[in-house]
Amino acid sequence: MVAVISGATKGIGKNLALYFASKGYQLALGARNIELLISLKNEIENNYGVAVFVKSCDFSKKEATIAFANEVLNQYKNVDVLVNNVGIYRLDSITDENENFELLMNTNLRSAYYLSKFIANNMRQQNSGHIFNICSVLSLSVQPQATSYTISKHALKGLNDVLREDLREDNVKVTAIYPGSMNTSSWEGMIAPKELFVQPQDIVDIINTCLTISKNANIEEIVIKPMNKKY
Ligand SMILES: NC(=O)c1ccc[n+]([C@@H]2O[C@H](COP(=O)([O-])OP(=O)(O)OC[C@H]3O[C@@H](n4cnc5c(N)ncnc54)[C@H](OP(=O)(O)O)[C@@H]3O)[C@@H](O)[C@H]2O)c1
Repeated sequence: MVAVISGATKGIGKNLALYFASKGYQLALGARNIELLISLKNEIENNYGVAVFVKSCDFSKKEATIAFANEVLNQYKNVDVLVNNVGIYRLDSITDENENFELLMNTNLRSAYYLSKFIANNMRQQNSGHIFNICSVLSLSVQPQATSYTISKHALKGLNDVLREDLREDNVKVTAIYPGSMNTSSWEGMIAPKELFVQPQDIVDIINTCLTISKNANIEEIVIKPMNKKY
């Protein structure tokens, strides 16, 4: 079994990499910082004895994302699980002048589009597989102070839903996860009660459930939020 994770060295992605390794999956992991990737590869190979392919990849870049997908498919004949996890958050308003819109659409949406495009084809040929899209509660609601993020995550939901319906006949499952505030490194440096947030292990538990229910059932969507409404 092979799992591919974008944005794999921190937060949700790293927790998922360790989970899949513990279940005996071989891994393909991408992020930009190669030192962190190599350190995670060593940690996993030493603790779990599974093969780990790592590649430094800026998933905001179309060509780099396609090259990553092709190298993964050269390395492993088949992919069983793809987690479109990479994503960044920025505060901005529609009237601000900045490059956030392009950056967030490229990182949060186009990465998932191009990874799915190539890897879904492989799953289609195998007639099996599971794609998870790590969306956000802002795929379902609107935060005008985070305009670019809100738009990118709404678009990711659109991609998720198209993939789910398109791949249904090919026996490939697609699941959208919509988290609220999560205790991950994306909150580094900010004063926040991270113990009140959703924990990365909660996402691991959800994905484990999605992968272990009966073969003819699919959990299509999961919304998971902190209990405390302030967050
Ligand atoms: N944290 C939250 O509160 C929260 C809430 C809802 C949804 N989410 C979503 O959950 C997903 C994971 O978030 P997280 O909080 O776990 O992230 P995180 O802790 O900030 O980790 C981000 C990971 O993505 C990589 N990354 C960032 N930009 C990249 C790029 N351009 N190319 C390649 N890799 C890149 C980082 O490594 P490098 O820097 O080395 O590239 C790192 O491995 C995201 O889609 C996010 O939108 C998060």
